[in-house]
Amino acid sequence: MKLTIIGTGYVGLVTGTCFAEVGHQVICVDKDPEKIKLLLEGGMPIYEPGLDELVRKNVNAGRLQFTTSTGEGVERSDIIFIAVPTPPQPDGSVDLSFIETVSREIASSMTAYKIIVDKSTVPVKTGEKVAETINRYCKAKVDFDVVSNPEFLREGFAVGDFMKPDRVVVGVASQRPVQAMKDVYTPYNAPIVVTDINSAELIKHAANSFLALKISYINAVSVLCELSGANVQEVAAGMGMDTRIGRQFLDASLGFGGSCFPKDLSAFIKISEQLGYEFGLLKEVQKINATQMDRFVKKISETMWVLKGKKLGILGLAFKQNTDDVRMSPAIELCQRLQQEGVILRVHDPRAMDKAKAVLTDVTYVSDMNEVAEGCDALVIATEWPEFKQLDLERARKNLTHPILFDGRNLFNVDEMEKLGFLYKSIGRGQGA
Ligand code: UDX
Repeated sequence: MKLTIIGTGYVGLVTGTCFAEVGHQVICVDKDPEKIKLLLEGGMPIYEPGLDELVRKNVNAGRLQFTTSTGEGVERSDIIFIAVPTPPQPDGSVDLSFIETVSREIASSMTAYKIIVDKSTVPVKTGEKVAETINRYCKAKVDFDVVSNPEFLREGFAVGDFMKPDRVVVGVASQRPVQAMKDVYTPYNAPIVVTDINSAELIKHAANSFLALKISYINAVSVLCELSGANVQEVAAGMGMDTRIGRQFLDASLGFGGSCFPKDLSAFIKISEQLGYEFGLLKEVQKINATQMDRFVKKISETMWVLKGKKLGILGLAFKQNTDDVRMSPAIELCQRLQQEGVILRVHDPRAMDKAKAVLTDVTYVSDMNEVAEGCDALVIATEWPEFKQLDLERARKNLTHPILFDGRNLFNVDEMEKLGFLYKSIGRGQGA
């Protein structure tokens, strides 16, 4: 099938590439000429495991193309996917100006029936606005259908998530685009859930908010574990074996971050408010997330006593493993809060150091994780990169002026760390945690 994707961010580029991978003929559009130039030259604007090889393979096979022209994209395909950013505004609501601009551009290029599919995360009722806008700006009288097809991929696992989705949600206002949408997704062998447009849009915000709630829930339980001497990992394992609950997203941490959860939670709260419902439960989710960071900072400051002038090594800057993304990263927030207290930082991340440099200054960037601890008063783990489990702990202990390790991601075993001679403080594992 001939498919156009507008926007080559995380969602757009992965979507376009994975559509090409199953044999569709794809053209990706981005208004940023630098990005398109980079992609045409075989470069990658983002780090996402496995994506660069897949882009190269499909470009070479002639199934994946790039352009800066929306007009060309609209002309070439019958189905146009919108995957542009929907950034947050200061009051928590969503800035839909990119969606509006793209809708107008599509409208002004349309000369025959098109299916316009929204993949960006948008507030409920956006589909109605997109349809209205297209009607208004369409030069000729052309038929079209608007479809909502939210994307659930995770950064760091995006290709796998796209190729093997748990489900594909397709929100429609009429039956006309349903078969074409099913044809697009048939190669992925996933259940296709067909709903009305408003429900499809709500599914995305409701799902992400629920996952954020799950993390805040286990983080709240981790506080009880610290107060009572229980172990949050054992509690999570026991809870998670109930198939109604499930083990995923029950890892206590210094809080969730990234470009989705914090933004989607605020947006969902705002949307609810605009519809006349106060979603107090989700406000509590935000509150617990903020408290979790406060508690971790407090744990560090109480242990170190005076923070001013202390030198700390930080392992992890990305908002989670497997990505170079530092947007709304708890690790970056932690660094900045420690800096405000006068702490001197040596930092390392396997992938995110380049991006971190734009937002985190006056720190020493260290390229080898095993050298971070040198001359530091304590070491802190802020991101759950699996490679940190391979850290040379013996060397770290010798390099630190005092063998203190704060683990915001519970990567190590408490007893083993103590045996190695560390004062080891993690999340929700016993009273001394
Ligand atoms: C999320 C959703 O999972 C995805 O479906 C949606 O399309 C986009 O938003 P993403 O932001 O890429 O994906 O990251 P995710 O893996 O969900 O993690 C989000 C944050 O929660 C990270 O900071 C992560 O470290 C944290 N997290 C996750 C926890 O603290 N504990 C957990 O158990 C799981």
